[in-house]
Amino acid sequence: MTVALVNGSGCLDALIAPGVAAQLDAFVTKTITPEPREGNPPVRIAETEAGMLNSIGLQGPGIAVFLSDTLPALAALGLRVWVSVGGFSAPDYAGICERLDGRPDVEVIELNLSCPNVEEAPESSAQIVAACRASTTKPLYAKLSPATSDIGESARAVVAAGADGLTLVNTIRGMALDPLSLKPKLARGFGGYSGPALKPVALACVSACARAVDVPIVGLGGVRSGQDALELVAAGASVVSLGTVLFADPTAPERIRRELRHESTARGYPDPLAARGVANSG
Ligand SMILES: Cc1cc2nc3c(=O)[nH]c(=O)nc-3n(C[C@H](O)[C@H](O)[C@H](O)COP(=O)(O)O)c2cc1C
Repeated sequence: MTVALVNGSGCLDALIAPGVAAQLDAFVTKTITPEPREGNPPVRIAETEAGMLNSIGLQGPGIAVFLSDTLPALAALGLRVWVSVGGFSAPDYAGICERLDGRPDVEVIELNLSCPNVEEAPESSAQIVAACRASTTKPLYAKLSPATSDIGESARAVVAAGADGLTLVNTIRGMALDPLSLKPKLARGFGGYSGPALKPVALACVSACARAVDVPIVGLGGVRSGQDALELVAAGASVVSLGTVLFADPTAPERIRRELRHESTARGYPDPLAARGVANSG
């Protein structure tokens, strides 16, 4: 076992860029919702000094078309598929999990409990996880927001409700203004902030959760290099996920895998996984 590399949900379309997806250990889909969604109106993407803002708002075909068209096409590419699931209530999430349950081409279900660009479900994350746990035997990973005062407590709650792993972190809400008009660049006003500035936030969240619970952690937030990936592993991640970097560098997975190996051996770790959690002891 070594540190696996996956993509952040919504940051790669494997059907458009299969060569990028093939460099990963598993492909994570864009978040799937019960019904088709057009997402938020444009402008939905804006650059900032140290990252990007998006307010896509869970655009997608909905679960029925995903099952009939997208999933078979992904399976035909020979990819290991993790499906990101979203919704607006616990039954929304659980209904999708139930439909994914019997599908041999789905390896993991990631519950997007933290999209800053849509209305939140009224139930707590733990209640949503519990509803999904009752609907599927697939491994369930809970993707949490960094915008909480005690993420360790959130981690304990979702693991107690049946989550098998955690994905940390989703974007954090941000805003960018046009320098001349001083109006928001995004039509919706605000969006999810991702990229380099998120790395310290992700490190703190991964570290807090690794101390709170003993489950696999997918670390993501601002990873651009093997050094960044190794730091997330040191904070407690066993899988590293690439998000915004994929928009700039389609060779990022292979490059970061190579750099990760190099940075680990340079520090005396025969495998990057041997560095897991070293930031959290002593
Ligand atoms: C354009 C864009 C779309 C995204 N869509 C989703 C999504 O559908 N579901 C989700 O869970 N996260 C989504 N994310 C969040 C990423 O998966 C990831 O958590 C976040 O970007 C932090 O990682 P990064 O700093 O490496 O980009 C999106 C991010 C971006 C930039």
